[in-house]
Amino acid sequence: MSSQKEPVVQSPAPTTVIDSRSVVALLSRLRSVAGQADPLPLYASLREMGDVVPAPWGGFLVTGHHACDEVLRSPDWLALDRAWRARQTDGSRWSTPSSRELEQTLVALNPPEHTRIRRSVNNIFDRGTLEALRPTVQRVADTLLDTLIEHAGDAHADFAELVGEQLPVATVGHWLGLPPEDFDLLRALTHAQAYAQELLPTKRQLLAADDAIRGLREYFTALVARRRADPGDDVISGWLRAWDALEPDRELADENVYSLAMFVVIASLETTSTLLSTMIWTFDRHPAQRAWLRAHPAALANAVEEVFRYDPPIHVTTRYAGRDLLLGGIPITRGEVVHTMLGAANHDPTLTPDAHAFDVTRRARHISFGGGIHYCIGAGLARLEAGVLLEAVLRRLPALRVVAPPTWEPRLAFRRITRMPVSVR
Ligand code: HEM
Repeated sequence: MSSQKEPVVQSPAPTTVIDSRSVVALLSRLRSVAGQADPLPLYASLREMGDVVPAPWGGFLVTGHHACDEVLRSPDWLALDRAWRARQTDGSRWSTPSSRELEQTLVALNPPEHTRIRRSVNNIFDRGTLEALRPTVQRVADTLLDTLIEHAGDAHADFAELVGEQLPVATVGHWLGLPPEDFDLLRALTHAQAYAQELLPTKRQLLAADDAIRGLREYFTALVARRRADPGDDVISGWLRAWDALEPDRELADENVYSLAMFVVIASLETTSTLLSTMIWTFDRHPAQRAWLRAHPAALANAVEEVFRYDPPIHVTTRYAGRDLLLGGIPITRGEVVHTMLGAANHDPTLTPDAHAFDVTRRARHISFGGGIHYCIGAGLARLEAGVLLEAVLRRLPALRVVAPPTWEPRLAFRRITRMPVSVR
């Protein structure tokens, strides 16, 4: 990282002084069940405070799209890596077993380690792989909708549990060759580990995350050991072969493959499950958009992109400054943390005019999959699942309605719907 480089100034420094109590109040409301049900007005208030807002606990909240994009793409901003976590001496969340375990996953690595591991998986969801997966995703989506119809009958059934939660685990499980009887366990462990990646987890949540991470390690190291003993032409055996060529130490190779398999599963489940339910919820609140899309099925992929923009499942990612610099005109000291508020940034009116309108005809621009070197490797798979499910719902369930508002978990970074009753007739 060159200290010669000129800092990038995105916008003039704000002239107003921000009262930290109003930021605390906004974040508390955002973390509540009611705030999660309707975060857009809260994001609008946060953005009014500026593109880069001091966080009450130190560091900054980045709400503007251009500033978020700069943080995600510039090599001056680093993922919260092992070295950074080790420097946090307040006995905090960063020394918990779950934090230590996650520090070896892609999302917590910086170059050159990140480059090496990311290259080892290359473009795992290339066009050929996605097209090969499509018939399975279609078959699973249809079976899940059959189950939903059967459970709902003339009353209602829980879309989140019966469909939103199931399609991602069945898809990634099929792709990795995992036994279906393990899916419930993997879902439960994934939900609990997410607290270790939350913005402000409680002690109780961190303990749950620690337990879950132990379960995930046990599960995925056993899986890697089985593939090592009996390799095939599956994805994990392929990663083992790739790592054997890269890493002379077999234990290290196995450890890397464990980390990849575990992280790909948790990264895909927590996000896509939420997205599939919020997609249905969003269309339910915008019946005219839904009717238009039914009449214009060729616009499906475009509509899915607007779904990703409008309400992404990950609303916050975090980086620290690799050197002293300016962001949005605000001086930031080396080591200080910024939280890129992806959900807020997607509604930045300088990026999208009339940003709070859900409009499936627009060419949506968003940073829901992040940006730069950590850009989501599963974006293609997530788009495939969302597109297949939306097409099937529009075709098979024109009368689908959400009969009561979804139940939200009180979170900040990883949105989660736990229940969403729907009727189908
Ligand atoms: C709706 C679905 C999804 C969304 C919105 C999403 C979003 C994201 C975001 C925002 C990041 C960047 C995090 C950061 O910069 O700190 C990311 C990274 C990642 N995602 Fe996804 N994701 C989704 C689905 C998936 C799926 C299906 C997979 C795999 C099958 C996956 C695997 C990953 C991995 C491995 C990374 C880390 C990449 C790296 O650090 O180099 N994601 N995702």
